[in-house]
Amino acid sequence: MSAKSKLNARSEAEAKARLEELASLMLQADEAYHNRDAPVLSDADYDALKAENQQLEQAFPHLVREDSASSRVGIAPSSGFSKVKHSVSMLSLGNAFDAEDVASFVASIQRFLGVSDDIEFTAEPKIDGLSLALRYENGQLVLAATRGDGKTGEDVTANARTIKSVPQRIETDIDILEVRGEVYMHHKDFEALNETQAKSGQKIFANPRNAAAGSLRQLDSKITSKRPLMFFAYSLGEISRPLGETQSETISAFEALGFSTNPLTKICANVDELIAHYSDIQNSRPDLGYDIDGVVYKVNSLKLQDRLGFRNNSPRWAIAHKFPAETAVTELEAIEIQVGRTGALSPVARLKPVTVGGVVVSNATLHNEDYIAGHDGNGAPIRGGVDIRVGDWVTVYRAGDVIPKVKDVVLARRPEGAKPYVFPSICPECQSAVVRLDGEAVARCTGGLVCPAQTVEKLKHFVSRAAFDIEGLGAKQVQAFFQDGWVKEPADIFTLRSRLGSGGLQQLQNMEGWGEVSAEKLFDAIDDKRKIELNRLIFALGIRHVGEVGALLLAQSYENWQDFHDAVVAAGGHDGPAWDALNEIDGIGPTMAASLVDALSDAQFSQVVDRLIPHLDILVVESAGDQQSVVAGKTIVFTGTLEQMTRAEAKARATSLGAKVSGSVSSKTDYLVAGPGAGSKLEKAKSAGVATLSEDEWLELIGR
Ligand code: IVH
Repeated sequence: MSAKSKLNARSEAEAKARLEELASLMLQADEAYHNRDAPVLSDADYDALKAENQQLEQAFPHLVREDSASSRVGIAPSSGFSKVKHSVSMLSLGNAFDAEDVASFVASIQRFLGVSDDIEFTAEPKIDGLSLALRYENGQLVLAATRGDGKTGEDVTANARTIKSVPQRIETDIDILEVRGEVYMHHKDFEALNETQAKSGQKIFANPRNAAAGSLRQLDSKITSKRPLMFFAYSLGEISRPLGETQSETISAFEALGFSTNPLTKICANVDELIAHYSDIQNSRPDLGYDIDGVVYKVNSLKLQDRLGFRNNSPRWAIAHKFPAETAVTELEAIEIQVGRTGALSPVARLKPVTVGGVVVSNATLHNEDYIAGHDGNGAPIRGGVDIRVGDWVTVYRAGDVIPKVKDVVLARRPEGAKPYVFPSICPECQSAVVRLDGEAVARCTGGLVCPAQTVEKLKHFVSRAAFDIEGLGAKQVQAFFQDGWVKEPADIFTLRSRLGSGGLQQLQNMEGWGEVSAEKLFDAIDDKRKIELNRLIFALGIRHVGEVGALLLAQSYENWQDFHDAVVAAGGHDGPAWDALNEIDGIGPTMAASLVDALSDAQFSQVVDRLIPHLDILVVESAGDQQSVVAGKTIVFTGTLEQMTRAEAKARATSLGAKVSGSVSSKTDYLVAGPGAGSKLEKAKSAGVATLSEDEWLELIGR
């Protein structure tokens, strides 16, 4: 039997399992080779794995994995590049999907600033590449850094110097000038690159973005220098002096300094002009010769940008208006139910694999029972009221270019005998009852920690990137440890080393995909994370409604675990001063407060938490904002009418200066800022001896 037919004789299930194994083996081998300079495989063995992977992928193209070595964009250079802390964070942009979203974005800016006049914007293409920050000191390029997680990126200076449209030096008297923009690749260059790669048996890139990213993150800058990378400048990072008063003046200044800027950048006077320019850009999209995925709108005045500031990870003064997603039609083979960490039952469509926008999609979310049935939570029809049935032909797209979703049913192709889907009434994982509360879209398993699916999902969440982020202990490993009985709850992770002992270590090493080095490394990685920031810990607990942002707000408000824990426990009655205090934290509403209180008053959950805490060294979290300002750490209450800015702007400014804003006066209040019409809060502050300030006095205090 030839190698090929031997491969074809493999069952699909065998092929799938082997491809998973190969992905893991080759990732380890690549990391050892590239990042640690310590190969774990001989060249011949590595080539054999590579050939096997390639043959299997050719025989079963729909089984190609996202983490396959054949589609990997270089190895994440965990140690290959040095880390760079961005002095000004590199943020992401909020999205708008239609004209209505754009209008409400503009309206929210007007509300925030308390104005009704039109606001001027710039509109320019959103380039589908990767962002790069170029730091010039006295005109010399001294540092080029990737975005990374927005706070810390990678030093790719040597590589960036090889890009023709990145000037090595610029004529300026500005000491520090950080120019930010997008690195991308033209379609024709991308195709030529792939041809050369194919000829020399090297990796083929899936799209120009991956090719640009892979090229910029080469450990050898000689390779980068041969790659046709381009750069458009579009914004500023740290600067010792601005280049103008507006975004458009900044762009013109970039051009004068020798940077390329996008020729489709335009000043727009109002929403209608934004939408008109969006259409123009959309029309020219096929002829641009490079990929764009939307249009970015930015408030033109830098003064206004400054006043608007940031929310979480994105500026209030800019938004990305995305182009509609590409769609494809395929067959719905099955509907399966996944049980999440909070017990939510999520229906998933198993699809006949289909390419959507360059990526093979075989699963898609179906949201919930109502979505399948063809109506929204209020009983109003969606898709014209058509339900989704197994066997249907459906239209799929990737929402936000990532998450596969089912959009529509091609009713004309519905097979005879297709039956409406019946949503389960018992949990498919633990057979506990499923309940759906009035007014909720989601049905939940009532098994709690009895349900193995909920438990393991909670553990996966616990080790996820925004939570404990333990290197080498991802979702897959946690699942394996759970199945083998080694880890049943978070505390177990921290006792693994002592419980496993040397015999256990042997067992761990025998588990698929673990070598001697990785087991030891894992224990060290776990030890590293005994020290954990309070916000990460709160988020890691996986309490419903408490996301990353909520966890950060709580951590900044309480600063240490004990205070946080005591405050939530004290609020247990959903009433009284402790409950009010929890609700008054800016950004925490009654839903999150109730969820926290209920979680920590659940006996089983609080025991799990109590067993975890002693293993940790919980780091105090500093309040948000500028810790050097005169109001850092102070608690401020605003009351009455503010005359120089809206309440939202006043709050945002206080927070950015490191102050906490509260809704009610208490013994913790440092300043009450009272405008005309102030009533009971002013009375209360006076009798409690809290310092009261007029709006002018407040502005004088903060120096504006
Ligand atoms: S401005 C504070 N302008 O989009 C806002 N970003 O989702 C800074 N991008 O990470 C970004 N084209 O990589 C801006 N014309 C453009 C852009 C653009 C592409 C990318 C950029 C950023 C991401 C945000």
